[in-house]
Amino acid sequence: MLGGGGREYAIAWALARADSVGTIDVMPGNAAMSVFARLVDIPPTDVARVEQHLAAARIDLGIVGPDELVAAGLGDVLRRAGVAAVGPSREAGRIEWSKSFAKELMDEAGVPTASWKSYPDAASAAKALEERDGPVVVKADGLAAGKGVVVARTRQEALDALGSPTIRQGTIVLEEALEGEEASLQALVDGETVVALPPARDHKRFGEGDTGPNTGGMGACSPTRILPDDEAQDVADAVIAPVAKRLVARAIPYRGVIYAGLMRTRDGWKVIEYNSRFGDPEAQVTLPRLEGDLGKLLLALGEGRLAAYARETPLRFSPRAFVSVALCAAGYPGKPETGDAIEGLDALPEGAWAFHAATKQAGGRFVTAGGRVVHVVAGGSTVAEARELAYRAAEKVKWKGITYRSDIARREV
Ligand code: AMP
Ligand code: GLY
Repeated sequence: MLGGGGREYAIAWALARADSVGTIDVMPGNAAMSVFARLVDIPPTDVARVEQHLAAARIDLGIVGPDELVAAGLGDVLRRAGVAAVGPSREAGRIEWSKSFAKELMDEAGVPTASWKSYPDAASAAKALEERDGPVVVKADGLAAGKGVVVARTRQEALDALGSPTIRQGTIVLEEALEGEEASLQALVDGETVVALPPARDHKRFGEGDTGPNTGGMGACSPTRILPDDEAQDVADAVIAPVAKRLVARAIPYRGVIYAGLMRTRDGWKVIEYNSRFGDPEAQVTLPRLEGDLGKLLLALGEGRLAAYARETPLRFSPRAFVSVALCAAGYPGKPETGDAIEGLDALPEGAWAFHAATKQAGGRFVTAGGRVVHVVAGGSTVAEARELAYRAAEKVKWKGITYRSDIARREV
């Protein structure tokens, strides 16, 4: 497992519960994961040392967690070393690290998405805005940790966005602003084979009531009434499979997870973006809902036999609901305050867990080490029950300046 945040914690946690899985190495992981995994203190971007570890540790399956590592080519590194991998090649991963590539592919594949145009720089995008007013979405073309997108209501807001430090460098995409409710749909993709995972709802805005700046995600729930479980495969067939097919046709077949950010508009589902990996925090609430042996499933994907495996062992979703709440450090989504001692992690109610995202161990205790510090994750027989338990758990956790949204999954109940 490559990576060390909340999503990687969730993946390793879920794998640790699979009968087929022996040892899990996380690189670099985080200290809290040592309960169920071996921490390998190598930065995944240090390719030479990653290769040494792969050769020495006899790894059966490698999983690439975060988008930066997909973009850095770790999927290729794993496969070159003869390790089955869940994680696309750098070239296929371009569906996330270049928004204009994703848009081109969607147009080619006939997948519904917002109309768009790309510009070589902020100045030419600003010029294009002279001819239009009203809502427009401004996006940096590359990766920006969920912070490269501004939904502007007016031309002035769009111009301000073009001047902001996370957007102003490099290629810009201007997009039609869509309206509707959002859902996250992740699918396992092996060439042209696409197997939907349970849909989820993320809460990307920082503030209560979906206001304020975009973040990496403040909390999630699965299932969601926006995209019911029993529609997941049909929607994946409509919005993910055509693009998977185009990638095969372009000789860059995809092997890993494609996560489509979707909006249900008046004209039906439209794709907002593709991600080349599990969602964070979507993984936290969807992986606990997968029945069967996750190790066998992901190994089949990594070894390129997903179609046969899924035929013999159809994927089933548990009816249990999961809700996660991101507990954040003061300052997030700007520069977070770090180094504060975390209390209460050992006092969570039964059925709730702390999935560590940005914590460190110092002097025998956990301290904050980033923006989204811990995701509390709770299960229940309904979303309402899971939500109630997640917030009971959140209340137990304390540090100086802790902040989180109090309305995660509220609209689901
Ligand atoms: P992205 O990083 O592309 O997922 O964008 C982050 C968030 O910005 C999305 O989850 C949406 O809430 C919003 N967004 C992005 N593109 C659009 C669009 N074309 N219309 C409306 N909202 C959008
Ligand atoms: N939850 C948003 C993301 O993983 O990109």
